[in-house]
Amino acid sequence: NKSATGKAHGKIILIGEHAVVYGEPAIAFPFKAAPVMVKITKTETPARIASSYYSGPLNEAPDVLANIKLLLETIGHDLDQPVENLSITITSCIPAERGMGSSAAVANAFVRALFNYFNTPLDKERLLYYVDISEKIAHGNPSGIDARVTSSEFPVFYRKGSTFEALSIHLTGYLIAADTGVKGRTGESVADVARCVEKQPEQTMETIRTIGQLTLQAKDALAHNALEHLGRLLTQAHSMLQKLTVSDDTLDHLVETAIQSGALGAKLTGGGRGGCMIALAQSEQKAKIIADKLLEQGAVNTWIHALGEDNNE
Ligand code: MEV
Repeated sequence: NKSATGKAHGKIILIGEHAVVYGEPAIAFPFKAAPVMVKITKTETPARIASSYYSGPLNEAPDVLANIKLLLETIGHDLDQPVENLSITITSCIPAERGMGSSAAVANAFVRALFNYFNTPLDKERLLYYVDISEKIAHGNPSGIDARVTSSEFPVFYRKGSTFEALSIHLTGYLIAADTGVKGRTGESVADVARCVEKQPEQTMETIRTIGQLTLQAKDALAHNALEHLGRLLTQAHSMLQKLTVSDDTLDHLVETAIQSGALGAKLTGGGRGGCMIALAQSEQKAKIIADKLLEQGAVNTWIHALGEDNNE
């Protein structure tokens, strides 16, 4: 039976989320500890999908899978290929709705699987074109960063409307990511920031520009092994995200816990309002202590990511 697969992975935004929607830069890392695989096989029945959300006929799938439905129709049409008798299986290690890019990663893996299935070459530009279509359905007004990082092997410096830059990291440090266990709704938090911009344009745009400045400084810190400085920048970015109303008590508590346990800095990551937070530590041993403390204080899962290993040279 004909079949094909496609892979992608999650992402962690180091700094710049939300501001990136308004043209400021952001830095994000591929999160290879959280892979996604999509498998496509031929069936005799109408298109079916199997995922952690839902398994059954694709045309009865819930709204969270609306992006996959649209991608299937669009790509089928563009490639002039029949897509009625396909079975789609999504296997994801990315916790869904936690700001880790799960929707973009699934879309990436799905587009790759579908092009493989039809033996059609797929370049990066075309892949991003489809993933951007999908992200607009999943998130409303996305900057495009999730689409790019979930298909990149390297850390990415990104500004909306420009091509992304693969970053070289000259720094030894450890990022701890912790899941609050609370679903974050990126679409909603992005819309709330838009409301802040509408109601208090000057103040909000000032906060957004400050995040942009912190991001530029973070890029420098990554290039020059300024780990402690980077930590301070992360914590400052968290204060700015609080001003944008996208943090919440759970995230603030975990950020506080990380700092009290010896982190060099900490912040929420991704959309906010639930979802995940990150903290920076100088050694793996310290990272483990912080991760344990976060679990003790309510995090449902933690990951430790060695920053130096992301180097693209
Ligand atoms: C979501 O991972 C990042 C946000 O900045 C939204 C976006 O950039 O599309 C919150």
